[in-house]
Amino acid sequence: MNIKNTLTTKLCTAAVLTAFAVAAPAFADEDAELVINGEIEIVTKTTAPAHLEGHLTEIMSGWRFRSDDTQAMEMDDFDNPGMLGAEEGLAQFDTVMGSEGKACADCHDGVESLASVRPTYPKWNDAKEAVYTIQMQINDCLTERMGAEAEKYDSKKMLNFEAVLASVARGTPMNVAIDGPAQSTWEQGKEMYYTRFGQLDLSCANCHEQNYGNMIRADHLSQGQTNGFPVYRIKDNKLTGAHSRFKGCIRDTRAETFAPGSPEFVALELYVASRGNGLSVEGPSVRN
Ligand code: HEC
Ligand code: HEC
Repeated sequence: MNIKNTLTTKLCTAAVLTAFAVAAPAFADEDAELVINGEIEIVTKTTAPAHLEGHLTEIMSGWRFRSDDTQAMEMDDFDNPGMLGAEEGLAQFDTVMGSEGKACADCHDGVESLASVRPTYPKWNDAKEAVYTIQMQINDCLTERMGAEAEKYDSKKMLNFEAVLASVARGTPMNVAIDGPAQSTWEQGKEMYYTRFGQLDLSCANCHEQNYGNMIRADHLSQGQTNGFPVYRIKDNKLTGAHSRFKGCIRDTRAETFAPGSPEFVALELYVASRGNGLSVEGPSVRN
């Protein structure tokens, strides 16, 4: 029995204990390497950032834990249904919205000019004195600069914008700042990550730090990284945002959960993103 399985035995309630099992080796290729379109090299496994010392030595993208077929869908943009969202996002970028008669492209010189956004968000916003997610920033542009309505968090339109901003940053290492003014938000997110939720009394860490690589029900547990967001989920047939994914994971512990866009999920997103510092931006990715 390896250390991970011993921890499983110690940490999990009887209900969940029956659900975890060691992964069947044929299920996914954890040693596969991801190159998109034969040219964009994606780092899906690397040394953990310093702040994870004592917790993880290596970090891995969720891509490594998916089946061969799901992995293959992400290797070519023609096979990746998430790229349709990125295309729609690009069209949205050139579309006039709101009372000021402006499109995103009127102020931003093409989506490529925003290639540094996906790897560095959530990020401290000086003017607003708060940690900002990409969607919060886009909503400010919509409402304050374009005279348009705010978009709902994780709406299709927002996820399309996120998809195109991710697609132009693919291959760039995640690099969110956790010090300076963002630090207290990061600490709040960290505390949430290790808090046990719900009737099952499980924290994010119980599943994604102590049991990654194991099976839970029919699913191969990953480290729950966010470098692949937004994620095209085959099961839902559409793009999913990180906050909606957090919400689903907390609901699975049979706990009350937070809303997408809530300050709690903004803090959690910053913390989880920082656990992936060093992995490549991979979105829009494909997951089951
Ligand atoms: C009227 C001009 C204007 C329009 C139109 C506009 N933006 Fe912005 N946008 C800005 C300014 C100004 C900033 C702030 C730059 C800064 O904070 O340094 C910004 C910042 C951003 C950022 C963060 C950039 C960074 O480096 O952190 C993103 C992402 C963004 N806008 C996306 C959009 C999207 C998507 C649209 C269309 C829905 C849009 N913007 C429309 C002016 C505009
Ligand atoms: C009961 C176990 C369990 C708990 C607790 C749990 N998750 Fe998950 N999570 C899963 C499963 C199963 C999946 C789908 C397979 C995978 O990617 O690990 C998943 C997927 C994810 C993903 C998607 C990863 C990807 O690459 O697409 C993220 C992000 C995530 N979880 C974050 C969290 C966070 C943050 C928490 C704490 C609020 C949490 N999870 C709590 C079981 C759990």
